[in-house]
Amino acid sequence: MSEAEIKLYNPSAAVQAAAHVSGMAAYQALCDEAERDYEGYWARLARELLSWKTPFTKVLNSDHAPFFKWFEDGTLNASYNCLDRNVERGLGDKTAIIFEADGGEVTRATYSELLARTSQIANGLKGLGITKGDRVVIYISMSIDGVAAMQACARIGATHSVVFGGFSAQSLRDRIEDTGAKAVITADFQVRGGKQLALKSIVDEAIALGGCDSVANVVVVKRTGAPISMTAGRDIWMDDLVAGQSTTCEPTWVEAEHPLFLLYTSGSTGKPKGVQHSTGGYLLHAALTTKWTFDLKADDVFWCTADIGWVTGHTYITYGPLALGGTEIVFEGVPTYPDAGRFWKMIQDHKVSIFYTAPTAIRSLIKAAEANDAVHPKSYDLSSLRLLGSVGEPINPAAWEWYHQHIGGGRCPIVDTFWQTETGGHMITPLPGATPLVPGSCTLPFPGIQATVVDETGKEVPWGQGGILVVKKPWPSMIRNIWGDPERFKKSYYPEDFKGQLYLAGDGAIRDAKTGYFTITGRIDDVLNVSGHRMGTMEIESALVSCTELVAEAAVVGRPDDTTGEAICAFVVLKRPLPVGDEAKAIAKQLRDHVGKEIGPIAKPKDIRFGENLPKTRSGKIMRRLLRSIAKGESITQDTSTLENPAILGQLGQNY
Ligand code: WT7
Repeated sequence: MSEAEIKLYNPSAAVQAAAHVSGMAAYQALCDEAERDYEGYWARLARELLSWKTPFTKVLNSDHAPFFKWFEDGTLNASYNCLDRNVERGLGDKTAIIFEADGGEVTRATYSELLARTSQIANGLKGLGITKGDRVVIYISMSIDGVAAMQACARIGATHSVVFGGFSAQSLRDRIEDTGAKAVITADFQVRGGKQLALKSIVDEAIALGGCDSVANVVVVKRTGAPISMTAGRDIWMDDLVAGQSTTCEPTWVEAEHPLFLLYTSGSTGKPKGVQHSTGGYLLHAALTTKWTFDLKADDVFWCTADIGWVTGHTYITYGPLALGGTEIVFEGVPTYPDAGRFWKMIQDHKVSIFYTAPTAIRSLIKAAEANDAVHPKSYDLSSLRLLGSVGEPINPAAWEWYHQHIGGGRCPIVDTFWQTETGGHMITPLPGATPLVPGSCTLPFPGIQATVVDETGKEVPWGQGGILVVKKPWPSMIRNIWGDPERFKKSYYPEDFKGQLYLAGDGAIRDAKTGYFTITGRIDDVLNVSGHRMGTMEIESALVSCTELVAEAAVVGRPDDTTGEAICAFVVLKRPLPVGDEAKAIAKQLRDHVGKEIGPIAKPKDIRFGENLPKTRSGKIMRRLLRSIAKGESITQDTSTLENPAILGQLGQNY
């Protein structure tokens, strides 16, 4: 696209006038303030947005960089900030959560009710002996109790670690062991797309795998009531835990640096990393970005479609909107049940004004809408919408335009928010009442975030030239550590290549030569992004080779996919003769199931290709670039003369 063709979408005068950050001059003034007095800027906002038990006097402590501390002598409580203070401000009867179950039943919780439920759970957890600093794993689907359980942990200073309900027993076990959790909070079942799926029995399985001796109790929320087994002395129903508990619970005041949560995410090595977040700095950015990026106001109905098992659900369901006293939707189901109009129907029914979802969901709903008018957004009243958001992966301009026109009615700005589990909240994003939008670009850094693009030596590259995305200064909601592995934290995020001075996001980026707008060009490490879910290629390779009776060797690469962004493509060498036809299909299925069991269904390879060997150089290195070409179905243009065994290229051409 030539520059003349780039279409800018300016905020309308009305959108701009009403916004918290109104106009580019206001955006620039905030950036300038941060530039002039970095610590003063964040301190001002931390005082304005959060309620502190003990006010902080120190702002940033870089003495042990890159282990930064923010607001370290201040104390606060995240749950107090999200619940009590809203009740104290007179919002007790305001709806905090509108919960819609998979089958369509709607339950509401006011701020007073959510506070009472959270307090009861908190008291119950205390009764189990859980205190400040203990870890609690939460393995539950989208529910009011899921949010309340997270808030209850925060209330008593316990560090929660939510594990997405789609992860397998093995993955859950690994996380329980790594956190050393004292308790697991789960539900009997989860319900998605009309189907009842196990949760509690997977917890049982995880614990039975061993290494979970730290777990003294499993608390079980009753979702469907179908039979499950309960282990006497260990397992307790949530209803019984909270029965008779007081609906008040004095918050445990914690230091700003106290770990609010651990959330596991994939890196370039096999083992997922426990990303450790703080209380004060994290909550500040959660609240601030909800205010500025989503422009949340008192009468908005906010809907972030992410699951609380991912960071998006943490920041933009459990913490950000509640810290501001907002009203939000919590949705249990899937976008395609009972049909692909579910999102649009819910926007219509609940008069959603701010809608935040992932490009994958948009792309799959475009396909469905184009095939069937009944689930096309034009069949619904979406006039309540005023702002749209996108997250998790780059949004292609065609999907952006459709989202803008068909969901936003041409009037709603789209905030394409770039961030990561590690960053806690938005890093590069438009502000809806200020930033002119360009489809496919996440535009400019959030005020105070010092993002830039550098070369391999850490030198900034000129606009218009691609490079490595980094952040120059620490910011309040940044990752504090990898749980139990400070060396890996340093190596992953503050590598020696950049003299330990720059935060390495792991993405490539390019800034527009004229506007300086950022476009994310994708991961620069061995991490894939499938439907907005992050997965390490080595993690999937380990899962494949753990099928020891079948697999000798495996290599995993990504390839572009129209709907999911990237798709997982596995190249497998078996410990048996090369299979063909139905036999190959059956083995491929067996391997997918195996990966599903090891990690979870989201990690199942879409493509599986078998070879008697993998293409390797004479020195034995797997030629991944070549594998990526094969996965894409490209004709091989690379030099294959160094290949030890060129014949296998033919075998790998077949996809099962
Ligand atoms: C990776 C982080 C942020 C919460 C959900 C994912 C990619 C995320 C965008 C965007 C282009 C994006 C990056 C990033 N990503 N948002 N708006 N445009 N890419 O969190 O699982 O930690 O994944 O998702 O590659 O590094 P995550």
